[in-house]
Amino acid sequence: MKILIIGMGYVGTTTGVVFAHQGHEVTGLDIDESKITSLKKGNLYFHEPGLQEMLFDQLKNGRIQFTSDPRAAVENHDVLFLTVGTPSLENGNADLTFIKKAAEMIGRYKNKEKIVVVKSTVPLGTTDQVEQWIKQSTTDPSSTHVAMNPEFLREGSALYDALHPNRIVIGSQNSKARSTLEQLYRSFTCPLLITSTKAAEMIKYASNAFLATKISFINEVAKLCDQVDVQIKDVAKGMGLDQRIGPDFLQAGLGYGGSCFPKDVKEFTASAKSLGVPLTILEDVEKINKSQPHYFINKMKNTFPTLKGKKVTLLGLSFKPDTDDIRESVAFPIMDLLLKEGAKITVHDPVVNLSTEWLTKGVTQCWDPYVAVKNSDMILIATNWSHYEKLDWAKVHELVTTPHLFDGRNMLNAEKMKLLKFHYQGIGYA
Ligand code: UDX
Repeated sequence: MKILIIGMGYVGTTTGVVFAHQGHEVTGLDIDESKITSLKKGNLYFHEPGLQEMLFDQLKNGRIQFTSDPRAAVENHDVLFLTVGTPSLENGNADLTFIKKAAEMIGRYKNKEKIVVVKSTVPLGTTDQVEQWIKQSTTDPSSTHVAMNPEFLREGSALYDALHPNRIVIGSQNSKARSTLEQLYRSFTCPLLITSTKAAEMIKYASNAFLATKISFINEVAKLCDQVDVQIKDVAKGMGLDQRIGPDFLQAGLGYGGSCFPKDVKEFTASAKSLGVPLTILEDVEKINKSQPHYFINKMKNTFPTLKGKKVTLLGLSFKPDTDDIRESVAFPIMDLLLKEGAKITVHDPVVNLSTEWLTKGVTQCWDPYVAVKNSDMILIATNWSHYEKLDWAKVHELVTTPHLFDGRNMLNAEKMKLLKFHYQGIGYA
């Protein structure tokens, strides 16, 4: 198939590279020239394991190309995927500016029948609206067949997820769009679910909202565990063995971040409210998530009544491991709170470069974790990078001033750390 992907962000780039890998002829379009220039050279402009190599291979064999010329791109393709961003507005609703612009662009340059697939996460009714926007901005009389095909890939394992999805959802009332997508995904062995466009839109929001709920739920239970000396890890394990609950997304910690959960929970809550069905459970999920950094800093203050002048080494800046994405990363509210308390912060992250804004606030960055921990009064883990599991903690113990270790991701073995004479604290007893 000849496929055009509009929007070379995280989802668009991964999807394009994977379609090319599966033998399709792919063009990636973006209005951002710098992204296109970089991708044309085979340089992935974000960190995602394995994707760089696959991009390079597909460029070499000519199955993927990149352009910033919308006219030629739209004219020369029959199957168009929309993967532009839908960030949050002040009121929590999704900002549909990029989707609308992309739809109008398709309308403007449309010269024949097109299949338009919305892959961006969009609120209920947007896919039908995309069809309208295309109709209103075109003079071409031929049909447009629309579908909604949500993407469930995770950052850090985007390539694996795109190659091994656990389900494919095709939302469309249109038989041509449906059969084209069924054909496109025919080599996948996972369940394929055909729904209406609105159901597909809702599946994506409800899935992300549910996963976020699992995280906030376990974080609340972890706080209870702190009060009654019960290990949250035991509780999560015991719960997760029940197949109806499942073991995933029960890792207590500093809460969820990233480009999806915070924004999708907000949008789902806002749109439900405007439809007169407030999803109060999600309002609480968000509140709990926002309170996690405060809870943890207060926990630290139980050990250190004042953090003023204390050297805190913060390990991890990205919102999760294996990505350089810092959107809604909890490390930043943590740093804000620590600075307010008068702490001196040194950070380490394997890939994220701290911006000058933070450097001018007095935060220092070290690329060597052993240099970062030197003379520190306490270490705080904000991201569960595997690098921190592999640290020589006995050596770290020798380098610090006082061996206080606050593990905001419950990633280290508490017993082992205590044997190494660390004052180890996680979230949920430990
Ligand atoms: C998520 C969804 O998983 C994916 O299906 C969707 O397409 C996009 O949003 P992503 O944001 O890449 O993916 O990361 P994910 O691995 O889901 O983690 C999100 C956040 O939750 C991270 O900050 C992570 O640290 C946190 N998390 C996750 C927990 O705190 N506890 C857990 O048990 C799991």
